[in-house]
Amino acid sequence: MKTPANVILIGFMGSGKTRVAGLLSRKLGFQFLDMDRLIEEKERMPVADIFRVKGEDFFRSLERDLVRELTSKERQVIATGGGAWLDGENRSRLLAGGWCAWLKAGPEQVWDRVKARLSERPILAAAPDPILKIRELMESRRIAYEMAPVHIETDDRTPEEVAEELMSRLSKDHPFDLSELQK
Ligand code: S3P
Repeated sequence: MKTPANVILIGFMGSGKTRVAGLLSRKLGFQFLDMDRLIEEKERMPVADIFRVKGEDFFRSLERDLVRELTSKERQVIATGGGAWLDGENRSRLLAGGWCAWLKAGPEQVWDRVKARLSERPILAAAPDPILKIRELMESRRIAYEMAPVHIETDDRTPEEVAEELMSRLSKDHPFDLSELQK
């Protein structure tokens, strides 16, 4: 069976999208792409500075441009930014552009994973109570994230375990020959 054009990971900040996408890209022989890093390279500044200097709306328009660009290509494992999926146009393009999986994480584990480098997450860094902000944002985004066709639990699991589960779910949805894929 034909493999999906792209593998697309969505989900909240700190759910492990970048780490897992890197592992999956090696397993699949696909290119690894992290949307935030691509935006940072293009703008030559960190995401936090883009938010501070140019504003969130500007960042979201860069994000939409990038979704358009990436979904016109193939053989990529894409780690999306946590907010990219919330935009309806992005969601339609991502759903049409590949196999989309939601990496689910609870608020406590997200906090554990992001607290050491909070300054890199402008939405949380700006909040007076970041844990409360995580809970509120997560709840307000839940319905959108649930629209992803594949849901994977990441709490108390290593990125390797999550990547393994994704590989087995992917091969059930799209039975394929791995040796063909890695050519
Ligand atoms: C955001 C998540 C971040 C980054 C930006 C906004 C969000 O990406 O795009 O800070 O709105 O959830 P990560 O999910 O990679 O941290």
